[in-house]
Amino acid sequence: TIPIIIDCDPGHDDAIAILLALAHPEQLEIKGITTVGGNQTLEKITNNALKILSFVDADIPVAKGARGPLLGTLVTGEEAHGESGMDGPVLPPSRFGPIETGAVEFIREVLLASDEPVTLVPIGPLTNIATLIRAYPELKSRIAGISMMGGGIAYGNVTRTAEFNIYVDPEAAQIVFESGIPITMSGLDVTDKAAIFDDEIEALKTRGPVSVLVGELLDFYSIFGKKMGYHGNALHDPCAIAWLLQPQLFQSKMLDVTVETQGTYTRGMTVGDLRTKTDRQPNVNVLMDVDRDAFIRLLFDALAMLDAR
Ligand code: BDR
Ligand code: CA
Repeated sequence: TIPIIIDCDPGHDDAIAILLALAHPEQLEIKGITTVGGNQTLEKITNNALKILSFVDADIPVAKGARGPLLGTLVTGEEAHGESGMDGPVLPPSRFGPIETGAVEFIREVLLASDEPVTLVPIGPLTNIATLIRAYPELKSRIAGISMMGGGIAYGNVTRTAEFNIYVDPEAAQIVFESGIPITMSGLDVTDKAAIFDDEIEALKTRGPVSVLVGELLDFYSIFGKKMGYHGNALHDPCAIAWLLQPQLFQSKMLDVTVETQGTYTRGMTVGDLRTKTDRQPNVNVLMDVDRDAFIRLLFDALAMLDAR
């Protein structure tokens, strides 16, 4: 099994990513969940993480992280994710609470205690991970790799060039991308192709309690998608988990990727070097395509497993 820590800001698709991971204990050992201000404020999204875990009875440590980016103030994703950060289904209050230890210290403790290197799965702004790397660079060797959702080589979603997670904290993203830690990036290039369609959402709602929950989450999430004219509803964050479970579903390219922190039109852009000959070593495994049908099957099967528990 791969030991992982999920760093997130639930967030509809974050919640689905957590559920997908929870359904596969034989492959993924979730050492803990850390939270970061992003889709909504830290209090709200931490509460959402706890409610999801409580719903499926998963007593996993949840550690609170950064309230906002390294520089400036937090931009939230309220337009897409609503006032609570996870609008739609009404979930019972959580039976669990966050641990006392903060996210960065918690990740440090897990890395030090683990016999084998741990994989980090950041699916929100990269503030916690950057803070960890800056405070404890000696811990890098204990990180097996980073499977993250963020960025996009071809285009953005908040601006024409910047994707939300990178846009919220470009300085943090730059630190992570320059860290030397092996990175697999699920950016918009692949996550927009990992879309779920309305008939599939309807099908989820005819199944067991966890599938219904996800169907209801996606009902709300799809309102924004329709408003924006998207083709289907991109399951961004679950890609970072699905790649760990079934890497063969994805096609990727090793690229040199840098994060723009300056440009008037390009702050928060992940700039990939697509030239055939470059002088820099590629630093990121960029996922470019996915077998969508197999990906959706993976999700449906995972939710059915949780329904049956
Ligand atoms: C990313 O931004 C958030 O709104 C989602 O949870 C996902 O992590 C997609 O751009
Ligand atoms: Ca997210």
